[in-house]
Amino acid sequence: MNRRGFLKVMGAATVVAVSPSSITQTLYADDGTLYKTYEKVKLVDDSGNPIKASKLKKEKNYIFMYPYMGTPCLLVDIGEPTNKNVKLKSEDGVEYIFSGGAGKNNSIVAVSAICQHQLTHPKPSDSFLNYVAKSKKTMAQKKSGVFVCSSHLSAYDPKDGAKVTAGPATQALANIVLEVDSNDEIWAVGVLGADKFHDYFKSFKPEFKLIYGNWRKAKKIVKVNTPTIALSEYTKDIIIY
Ligand code: FES
Repeated sequence: MNRRGFLKVMGAATVVAVSPSSITQTLYADDGTLYKTYEKVKLVDDSGNPIKASKLKKEKNYIFMYPYMGTPCLLVDIGEPTNKNVKLKSEDGVEYIFSGGAGKNNSIVAVSAICQHQLTHPKPSDSFLNYVAKSKKTMAQKKSGVFVCSSHLSAYDPKDGAKVTAGPATQALANIVLEVDSNDEIWAVGVLGADKFHDYFKSFKPEFKLIYGNWRKAKKIVKVNTPTIALSEYTKDIIIY
């Protein structure tokens, strides 16, 4: 599916509107985690067929929209198990726990691709926020195998719940909590950690209008399934410094 097809499918996806107040609502689970459930949606390809967890190419960036039609997420099989039960803390001091990656090897992660520093995110024109494979170089830090925002070189380690390891960002990227079922199909079920959705929706109205024709579409909740494609098919220019 090309970029135009992806946006068209997203436009046709089953959605429900949510009240703006729910965007800032954050649920704190009893065990102290910073976690909010949204619709449980299946990751599918351009034909509507489920994406199979075991077929993901290692260390390749995929993109899907969740939990809103205009909030991009990056999906990566990092090729090795993540750490488990990693303790993280949001900017405002709330502690939460990243329990680990999904899939047989606990190596599949997804993050809300909105930089915690100044909201850089993948767009059809370019993407400054990407996973940088271990074999590639980044100016953000010596070790690759991290998400890097090349706007100001923040790095986030997917093995540790997208914790900040370099740059000006002050809290981890929000994680998209995934489930892989017995059919090897991938589901997004919620968001873990502090998200930037409220600021993001406030900041990019003209961009949403350009991409979706109507900026309110960007704020609609994704339901049932979410098309998932290679980031290189979505964006013209993947930028890594
Ligand atoms: S916006 Fe991402 S590091 Fe500044």
